[in-house]
Amino acid sequence: PYVNTKDILEKASEGFYAVPALNINNLEFLQAIIEAGLEESAPVIIETSEGAIKYAGNGNIMRGAKLFVDMVREYADTIDIPVALHLDHGKHFEYIIAAIKAGYSSVMIDASEHNFEENLSITKKVVEIAHSVNVSVEAELGRLVGIEDNVVVAAHEAALVDPDEAVEFVEKTGVDFLAPAIGTSHGAFKFKGEARLDFDRLKKVKERTGIPLVLHGASSVPQDIVELAEKFGADFKGAKGVPSEILKETVKYGINKVNTDTDLRMAFIAGLREFLAGNPTEFDPRKYFKVPKEYVKGLIKERMRLLGCSNKA
Ligand code: G3H
Ligand code: 13P
Ligand code: NA
Ligand code: ZN
Repeated sequence: PYVNTKDILEKASEGFYAVPALNINNLEFLQAIIEAGLEESAPVIIETSEGAIKYAGNGNIMRGAKLFVDMVREYADTIDIPVALHLDHGKHFEYIIAAIKAGYSSVMIDASEHNFEENLSITKKVVEIAHSVNVSVEAELGRLVGIEDNVVVAAHEAALVDPDEAVEFVEKTGVDFLAPAIGTSHGAFKFKGEARLDFDRLKKVKERTGIPLVLHGASSVPQDIVELAEKFGADFKGAKGVPSEILKETVKYGINKVNTDTDLRMAFIAGLREFLAGNPTEFDPRKYFKVPKEYVKGLIKERMRLLGCSNKA
């Protein structure tokens, strides 16, 4: 069934496990995610960025949001695992309102580039609107700057979540889940040296807010997938993510939603390159998307097991 994201995440928080939140732009990634959820008996969170909505609607935002809701709901309504659809990194009211109107399960208001007071008041406004129609809300505190940014330690620390602010923010906004910045960044190039996250801040935010927490920039960028893609012509030199052991540790300290986009893209492109290299005569998309979809599905199933959400549907 189609559910509120809050239902999935509150159970995860009580049960000390995490659910991957998986970004899609099209049908094929959705199919891979649904199949993975069914095979693992895991709850599923699908998410779309503003860019994904614009892409799906060919520039028409309301149309894009409706297409995703229709597509996800049709699958959700006909299967036995909980499925939620979330707006990822909502920054403009146009997208947030379109997602709510179209029937998304939850929205993220990302006002993290504003100062604390502004982030708080913008988030509060979105919470009031969304909660009035039973849509749950995620917000972000701190900024996602990677260690690779080569900033001095003090500047880097300043970008991370402040646990005191987190307590005040959650109390005053009534937000349902929170993304605390603890040292990750988006994309395939997260760390130059060793991957390091600020577990102390994470623990404090969890202990003192008690709500479900979200890790952004959580792709692990598996090296076997990078190597496979490179074997068939890709150039991903220096690609590096959050190692699986570290991902698992963040769950121990309170992460319940693990935002993952890059890993799906990497698995897909590796599979597509491999297949096309061996099948130069193929031109039916239903055939050449088969192997990439299997790779995406395999990666998700593995991630579900790592995060502990397999058999929690
Ligand atoms: O947070 C970023 C997600 O990976 C979505 O990225 O804006 O390219 O769709 P996008
Ligand atoms: P990755 O780029 O690490 O997959 O992060 C995705 C994300 O945070 C989406 O909100
Ligand atoms: Na999100
Ligand atoms: Zn993100």
